[in-house]
Amino acid sequence: MLLLSKNEKMKADVLLGLQWGDEGKGKIVDVLTPKYDVVARFQGGPNAGHTLEFNGIKHVLHTIPSGIFHENTINLVGNGVVIDPVIFKKEIDALTDMGVDVKKRLVLSRKAHLILPSHRFLDAASETAKGKQKIGSTLKGIGPTYMDKTGRNGLRVGDIFLADFEARYTALVEKHARLLSFHNFEYNLPEAETAWMEGIELLRTMKVTDSEQEVNHHLQQKKRILAEGAQGTLLDIDFGSYPFVTSSSTVSAGACTGLGIAPNRIGEVIGIFKAYCTRVGSGPFPTELFDEDGERLRSVGCEFGATTGRPRRCGWLDLPALRYAIMINGATTLAMMKADVLSGFETIKVCTHYRLPDGSLTDQFPYDVSGKSVTPVYIELQGWQEDLTQLDSTQALPQALHDYIAFVEDALGNEIRIGIVSVGPDRKQTLVRDVIFA
Ligand code: GDP
Ligand code: IMO
Ligand code: MG
Repeated sequence: MLLLSKNEKMKADVLLGLQWGDEGKGKIVDVLTPKYDVVARFQGGPNAGHTLEFNGIKHVLHTIPSGIFHENTINLVGNGVVIDPVIFKKEIDALTDMGVDVKKRLVLSRKAHLILPSHRFLDAASETAKGKQKIGSTLKGIGPTYMDKTGRNGLRVGDIFLADFEARYTALVEKHARLLSFHNFEYNLPEAETAWMEGIELLRTMKVTDSEQEVNHHLQQKKRILAEGAQGTLLDIDFGSYPFVTSSSTVSAGACTGLGIAPNRIGEVIGIFKAYCTRVGSGPFPTELFDEDGERLRSVGCEFGATTGRPRRCGWLDLPALRYAIMINGATTLAMMKADVLSGFETIKVCTHYRLPDGSLTDQFPYDVSGKSVTPVYIELQGWQEDLTQLDSTQALPQALHDYIAFVEDALGNEIRIGIVSVGPDRKQTLVRDVIFA
């Protein structure tokens, strides 16, 4: 934890997204890594794209935790994560080319599930079958892999060391082939299998452990752990805008099940949100903009998916959704990202409430947030014209941005502070407002 009295039991901090993903989690994990001994991913898989920028380098991570660029940090991929050996190998190769000694810094859980090539085919077949109702999945095989996990059919990293691994693999692929035949889906398995088996070979050379034991041992040794979330709260399988969600627990509770950390061993919960909102893929988005303001957010904010390159849908900050996310996660502190992208707007809108079909107002996040059920109600705040990207302290922020931050904190009940304001993609463009991040 960031602040710890001497006799207190060590707790792990959690960092996660409070919106629909892509909030800037990777950047802040990288910034905070020097304060931690271990950075551990707890859910999701290569549907994630976490971008880090420093020393003129821009790098996107999918499976590997965002602490990997720091020499003395252990990076752990927990049991809650799903791993595609093909993408994983590409990530390792790219990092190795950059001179990062990945094998030394990375540990994988034996219990993490494997994404098979046929999981990707099933994902694509399912999306095709859904037609207009498609989720807008990243098509990385995430949903089918978690289905096999909960269906108790999955293959785990630990299985690759078993003598009958190939037989287990073949049995699962045969199951998938039967399902794919119902979809009439065409695919080329042998080609995909070659790359997959190469990935498995690489996995066999990595450090693979009972990571839940390792994590708890680290806590015992008073090592500082940061659990890194993927996706965002509004994509959570239980609390997100179902069915337009991902297939894992993206919320703080997911760090417990995804790493084997007991709930009473969770310390700070660092919630990351953009000063506005984005979403990629299908599903409801109450504050989405279809006008030139939305276009401007997308172009100035470079809002294109880090994993798929798809344009992200953009809109104003949604306080009922943010309040809901803070509640579900028990967030204890916040980082507000991409404040620089709002520079130059005459006025900035913030959604404070939703109007329901009966005309009443609510500040809660309801069961159905589609356009037919909620209409956002906005307040208009003064914008600022100054470029923020070169600023090096919060004191230097324009008054209108101070007012924006104060408004948001006030609307969140003044119970939680925005401890970090991010003003650009680089590590250095990070302004600290709260002493816990100093
Ligand atoms: P993640 O999935 O939560 O790690 O976020 P992504 O990496 O998918 O998307 C965030 C994008 O915004 C990346 O391109 C980052 O480099 C960029 N970014 C992060 N923080 C800031 C910021 O404060 N300002 C600007 N302009 N870009 C930022
Ligand atoms: P990071 O960690 C933004 C979205 C997809 C789709 C839905 C389901 O970078 O924030 P899936 O591939 O999981 O079946 O897709 O979830 N999605 C993300 N959106 N950021 C992500 O990760 C996402 N991971 C999945 O676009 O709408
Ligand atoms: Mg991302």
